[in-house]
Amino acid sequence: MKTILLNPGPVTLSAKVRQAMLNDDLCHREVEFAVLQSDIRKKILDVYALKPSTWAIALLTGSGTAAVEAMITSLVPASGKLLVVENGVYGERVSQIANRYGIANVQLAGPWQDAIDFTALGSILRADQEITHLAVVHHETTTGRLNNLAPLADLCRQYNVSILLDGVSSFGAEAIDFQDWPIVGCAVAANKCLHGVPGACFVVVDREALAIGAARNLYLDLSAYVAAQDSGNTPFTQSVQAFYALNEALDELSDAGGVEQRRKLYQGRMNQVRHLLRDLKIVPLLNDEDCSCVLHAYRIPKSTNYQQLHDKLKNAGFIIYAGQGTYATSIFRISMMGEISHADIERLGSALSEALKN
Ligand SMILES: Cc1ncc(COP(=O)(O)O)c(C=O)c1O
Repeated sequence: MKTILLNPGPVTLSAKVRQAMLNDDLCHREVEFAVLQSDIRKKILDVYALKPSTWAIALLTGSGTAAVEAMITSLVPASGKLLVVENGVYGERVSQIANRYGIANVQLAGPWQDAIDFTALGSILRADQEITHLAVVHHETTTGRLNNLAPLADLCRQYNVSILLDGVSSFGAEAIDFQDWPIVGCAVAANKCLHGVPGACFVVVDREALAIGAARNLYLDLSAYVAAQDSGNTPFTQSVQAFYALNEALDELSDAGGVEQRRKLYQGRMNQVRHLLRDLKIVPLLNDEDCSCVLHAYRIPKSTNYQQLHDKLKNAGFIIYAGQGTYATSIFRISMMGEISHADIERLGSALSEALKN
């Protein structure tokens, strides 16, 4: 029986993406790799119709955190100050990164269940003129909340603050307004909404923002990646097979109609799951309109616990995902990324109702 991954990445792969990893062995210093890398960079720009004169893609080998760390440590200048919006694990991780590197930072921290407090955000930006950058997680995978970026972007524009976006679990499926929002960097992993495999990640970076030369880390220096990759090279050995997979996954995204269609696909799946769970009296953590199309969190019913639910569903061929931190024992999460069919979701409904029987 095929196992369906309902955790937020890695995702269940399509046959073509899996097959792509079996392409020829390749040296990362050969012209064939340069072509692969430049194809991927172009296809990533195309996902949100970004101009190569304004935007560059720094393609890295690593998981999503590598891309986030590269973005934070390369784009906040030594004289800069970072405001981190925290309403979940991944916002808090950005603050940890800033602290590790001694980057001046302040927080707007809210309860994980809550939306961003824009009044408080405005007050911080008004009071602290030293803030140059704001880091925010688009889809906070901790709770499934899609943070509302339009009002945040308005405030950032008003106070001349640049946005560093953790788009790890939204890029490819949610709308990101690279033209209107003052974004200078967006960190992404290949193995989430893009349906590639773990090991490849990237930062979409504003070319002007790169010029400051702020990198505090040798391996994660975005300007070194962009300079090398613009001339068909790479600073370090890349994960060739993960790149093959990403290249194929980007073709599949484009063939399927791009971001808009992927969002509709996930939303359709998510509605199906939400109905199934409602029938089983399982309550969502957040209101539907606050959720991403990618992942929803649900309260664990009193009659069971996470481990039991997880194990029963695993036996039935589904991997669900536990809560983190304060939600470690009270919620489970279901994500809709990757190769999941209507029939798989119907089967999930039966497996869930079976798992909840005592
Ligand atoms: C929003 C967000 N940021 C960052 C990460 C970290 O990614 P990784 O575990 O690939 O390092 C994740 C992982 O789920 C995430 O969802």
